[in-house]
This record gives sequence, structure tokens and C-alpha cells, in this order.
Amino acid sequence: GLTRGPNLFAPERANSEGFDLTDRPTIARVEAARTPFETTTWAAGPLLAVAASAGATEDVLNPATLAKTGEITWSSAETVAAAASAAQPWSATPRERAAILNKAADLYEENFGEVFALLAREAGKTQLDAVAELREAVDFLRYYAARTEGAAPQGVFACISPWNFPLAIFTGQLSAALAAGNAVLAKPAEQTSLIAYRAVQLLHEAGVPAAVLQLLPGAGDVGAALTSNPAVKGVAFTGSTETAQIIHRSIAKHLAPGTPFIAETGGLNAMIVDSTALPEQAVRAIVESAFQSAGQRCSALRCLYVQEDIAPHFTEMLKGAMDVLKPGTPWQLSTDLGPVIDAEAKDGIAAHIERARADGRLLHEIAVPAEGHFIAPTLIKVAGIDDLEREIFGPVLHIATFKSSELDKVIDAINGRGYGLTFGLQTRIDDRVQHVTERVHAGNIYVNRNQIGAIVGSQPFGGEGLSGTGPKAGGPLYVDRFRAHPAPQAGT
Ligand code: SER
Repeated sequence: GLTRGPNLFAPERANSEGFDLTDRPTIARVEAARTPFETTTWAAGPLLAVAASAGATEDVLNPATLAKTGEITWSSAETVAAAASAAQPWSATPRERAAILNKAADLYEENFGEVFALLAREAGKTQLDAVAELREAVDFLRYYAARTEGAAPQGVFACISPWNFPLAIFTGQLSAALAAGNAVLAKPAEQTSLIAYRAVQLLHEAGVPAAVLQLLPGAGDVGAALTSNPAVKGVAFTGSTETAQIIHRSIAKHLAPGTPFIAETGGLNAMIVDSTALPEQAVRAIVESAFQSAGQRCSALRCLYVQEDIAPHFTEMLKGAMDVLKPGTPWQLSTDLGPVIDAEAKDGIAAHIERARADGRLLHEIAVPAEGHFIAPTLIKVAGIDDLEREIFGPVLHIATFKSSELDKVIDAINGRGYGLTFGLQTRIDDRVQHVTERVHAGNIYVNRNQIGAIVGSQPFGGEGLSGTGPKAGGPLYVDRFRAHPAPQAGT
């Protein structure tokens, strides 16, 4: 059983059990629950506490098949202004808020069939990724529900979330803000508005008042309207480092001094494999870290350093492991890897691969479906991390080699880029684990395993430097950043 006690860092709580996709009856249950939503056409738009005019309506397409998944009505500048003036922080007690967030977690789990269908058909999530995503969303709700007690809320929080975890990160941000007692204006990524809409419906059904949580689907213009509206007293953002910088400038210009800005941004994540590493374990960890979720995780491995002595053999093993990956429609349980999110993403990643091909640096790629926004899992040779201009947000792995005497140079190069999200190390030398992990600047460091899939409560997730402002999501300090703190007194 769970340990009881007044320890605020570990209140009584358990992570979601999820679904075991190696168990036949569970697979049958998942498929039966998901099938009714195979042809559903969802419709979504702003969810407001007041009447306000909205913007245009657009079709949402399945990134794997390009078939219609639903329709989304965007917010307009007027929608944002109306929502901001109607927003009202909770009047419920911390205990009541916790009960409502826990109830929402239950509703998320009860609606797993529809959630999995939406994750596949709007975001291109494989079934394995969808299971992990629902678990993480539910874990965030319950973890933050256990932390509703504390200082007063900040007031109204804007939560701006990404498409790559359209349920988990969307829910993580807003549930932390709600746990602290804030009102939330949520702007999901424009690519994944349907799943966000369904999530907010479930939160309302659980008892979150309409004026406490409003949904504002839209693109960058809606984000800009939010981060310049003086009713907003705090901003949580997950997405690119460039967008975080734009938001930061908007907050500085338009919002009150000291407005909290919680940002989780990009990375240029590396892994070092030395000659003592267990090759089978390392190859598996690399394939998962670089190609699972089609590489569309901020935690994903982008630059792999393999010690020169083992590189030829190791690279052949890696290519062999890539060859057995199965890209395809996320609707099939056997699919390892779905599409990338949209045409724009596909074109940008494809251009990067074509440059490598033209330079003779393309080491390996595997076939993908011709229809839909698919990108082949690809291996590209580089001299080192400095060859990467920027984060390529797709299933593209860059590989470099190093000599044993160059280990510290490699670490300096990784640190030199200024990011610091995840880092992986594969070695069987204990001293080296200590040496490397002490020197690398990264929020989440993983040794002899993959470097994706942080678990709420046990592996708080977040970066340093250009990768984020902290505190880590799914960790004990996160909710406190959504509370008002007494202003520092002059002269103290
Ligand atoms: N939290 C995710 C992971 O750990 C990335 O956003 O992979």
C-alpha cells in the first residue's frame, strides 16, 4: 500500500495503471472502445463563460490519411477579450478543487476509447503512444490534485500548449494552474484543438466552473492577444524556444512586472555510447529515443556520439534495428511509428534530409507510406552536435564518432549549444557515469536506458538553459509557480 503521512513531497496518490498492450483481452477492450469513433466527425470551437463572436471554421485532417477528422472554429481577438473579462478564479476550497480534478482524471480514463481515437486521428499517435499519453494526463491531474493547498492563486493564467502531447501537456499545464486556484484561459496548438476541446468538456463535466476554465482555439494571433491582455497574471508555455522568446517579450511589454512565465522549450538532446556499452541495450534505447512518436518529442534523441572503436559494427546494428520498424497508420496496433503532424512539418524535415543526401551524409533511411505526412526514419552522419543548425522535430537521428580521449570535448560541445533538456549515456564504467553526469547540463539525464517518457511523480521533467525556465512538470515544486508569492520588500 501507499505510505501515509504529512509529507507534502509525496502525498498519497498512485499513477494510472494504463493499458497493457501485450495482453490480448486488454487489446480487445481497447479496440472495442475505439472502434465506434473510427468515423466520427468531431466539431469544436471556443468554450466560453460568455457569449462572444468567434472566427472562421476549418476542417481538421488526419495526418496519416488526410481524411476529415472534424471541424474547428477559431477564436477571434474579440473572443479572447470576452473570455479574459469573464474569467474568475475558483471560489471552491482546495479540498473541493482536488476532488474535481480527481473526478476529471476518472472521466478521462472512462472515455479512453474516444481519447485514443482522437489521439490517432487528429495527432497521428500510435496506440502505444496514446496509452502513455492518457496515463500521463491522468497522472498530472491526480498529482496536482494532491497539491491544492498553499498560497493564494496568481489570478488568471494563460496556458499555451503544443501539439506533440495534445492531451498530456495541455492537461498538465492547466491542471497545475487550476490546482493552485487560478482561472485558466487555455490555447491549445492549432493542430490539436479537437482533443483539447474534448478534454475541457470533461473537466467541465467534472465540476470545473465555466468561468474558471475557458478554451480559446487558435493560432499565434490568439496567443499574442492572450499574452498582451492585462487580465492575464501568469503564462505557462510549452513549445519552441523562439516562440518562448516572443512570449517573454510580450509579457515584459504588456503585463505586470513580475508576471510568472513558466516555459518548457526545445532541446538538442545527445547520447554518448562508449565502447563498454551493452550494444543490444544501447541500440534499443536509441531507436526508442530517436524514432518513437516519429521523433516528435522535445525529449527525443537528436545527436548520437558513438566511440570510434565500436562505431562500424554498432552502426550496422542500428541500421538493422531501423529496418524492422513499421511506419504506418496509427490506427493499426502493429504500427511503430505514425506520421509527422502536418505538411509544413513534413516539408521542413524533408528539406533537411535532402540537404544531407546531397552532401553524401545520408547513412540510412527506411520506406514509409507514400500518402499522408510520413517521414522516413533517417540516419545522418555529422562531425558533431555543432553541425546541427537547430532541432529537427522528426524521426531524424544524427550520428557522430569520438575517440576515448575526446570525451570531455564532446561534453563541452553538447553543453556549448546552450540547451539542456535530456541526455543519455550508455556505459558499463561506474566512474564514467559519475564523471559524465556531473558535467553535462541537462534537466533529465538517463543512464543505460532510453531518454524519453518521463513519469509524473518519479521523473519530474524539464530543462535548463535554452530548454526551459523550470520548475519541472510532474515534480513537487511545479504548482507553487502558479501561486502568488509575497512581493519582496524594498531594502530587504
Ligand atoms: N515528457 C516527455 C518525455 O519525457 C517529453 O515532453 O518524453
